[in-house]
Amino acid sequence: MKLSTSIAFALCLNLATTGVFANDEEDDSGFSFDDKLASCAACHGENGDKPLAPDYPILAGQYGDYLEAALKDYRSGRRKNPIMSMQVEMLKLTDGDIEKLAAYFSSKKGLKNLGE
Ligand code: HEC
Repeated sequence: MKLSTSIAFALCLNLATTGVFANDEEDDSGFSFDDKLASCAACHGENGDKPLAPDYPILAGQYGDYLEAALKDYRSGRRKNPIMSMQVEMLKLTDGDIEKLAAYFSSKKGLKNLGE
């Protein structure tokens, strides 16, 4: 009895923690963080290092602060680009999203992966 209680407790704990940190839950925008990331990946590549078109920037390995500032500038309209403004608006990127996306892409290896 005692054993099964602790197993049940462990399961609950596990569910609770994955719930808090899961990236696949939708927020108010109707998109989860994973959905947002998948959208970026469509144009910039899964790791931000394989852009869809030659004039799409490589995000991998850029400074997180820079990526964060760029995304906030698209959101505020300070930096104008129809494609990126639409992304930021459509996905309703929050400050938290922007920080996570910037951290994700800046942690990737950058130009080293090109040409593979
Ligand atoms: C439909 C294609 C497309 C999608 C989807 C897209 N981007 Fe972009 N992104 C672009 C293009 C094109 C530019 C260059 C715009 C410019 O010149 O300002 C760009 C520019 C950027 C920049 C500025 C990079 C630099 O070097 O200055 C960042 C940061 C960025 N995108 C992040 C993202 C993130 C994060 C997502 C997902 C939320 C995303 N993009 C989704 C096409 C896309």
